[in-house]
Amino acid sequence: MKLKNIQFNIEEYDSVNALPQADLRLMEYAEKAISKAYTPYSHYRVGAAIRLSNGEIFTGNNQENAAYPSGLCAERVALFYAKSQQPDETIEAIAITARSDDFIIREAVSPCGGCRQVMAEYQIQQSSPIRVIMKGEKGPVLAINSIEELLPLMFHAEELKRKT
Ligand code: THU
Repeated sequence: MKLKNIQFNIEEYDSVNALPQADLRLMEYAEKAISKAYTPYSHYRVGAAIRLSNGEIFTGNNQENAAYPSGLCAERVALFYAKSQQPDETIEAIAITARSDDFIIREAVSPCGGCRQVMAEYQIQQSSPIRVIMKGEKGPVLAINSIEELLPLMFHAEELKRKT
């Protein structure tokens, strides 16, 4: 047995104002998207904004349902929206933030496993890394420069192919 150690890099910013300008602007879109979230069950509103390589920005927010698993996270709403409209554009970055109706979110919002898998699919398809910028209401803002940092040992389409 060999013990392998996987490391990942994460950027930490004291506040949104310390972010590079393009990230800050994208985060502002994510913030705005929060207000239109449909969250009667969790009261946890998430906003996501995606910047494509042509400069277009698509936003999304979480959409819940009385049949809980039928709802969808903000990130996937934004990702599917963007890719359904612009299938040939590259995703450069996604900004994510959240607000709760019940408490203050003191940590950066980190995408769920299902959303990471969807991000991974598009990153592999486009062969260029997707940057993810994550923020709560308080606390540091985090950013990573590739979905590999969020999803090591990811499942990907190559695994569906027969290897000789
Ligand atoms: N949620 C998101 O939209 N994105 C995340 O990254 C985490 C969770 C949503 C799903 C559900 O509507 C609510 O937040 C509580 O889990």
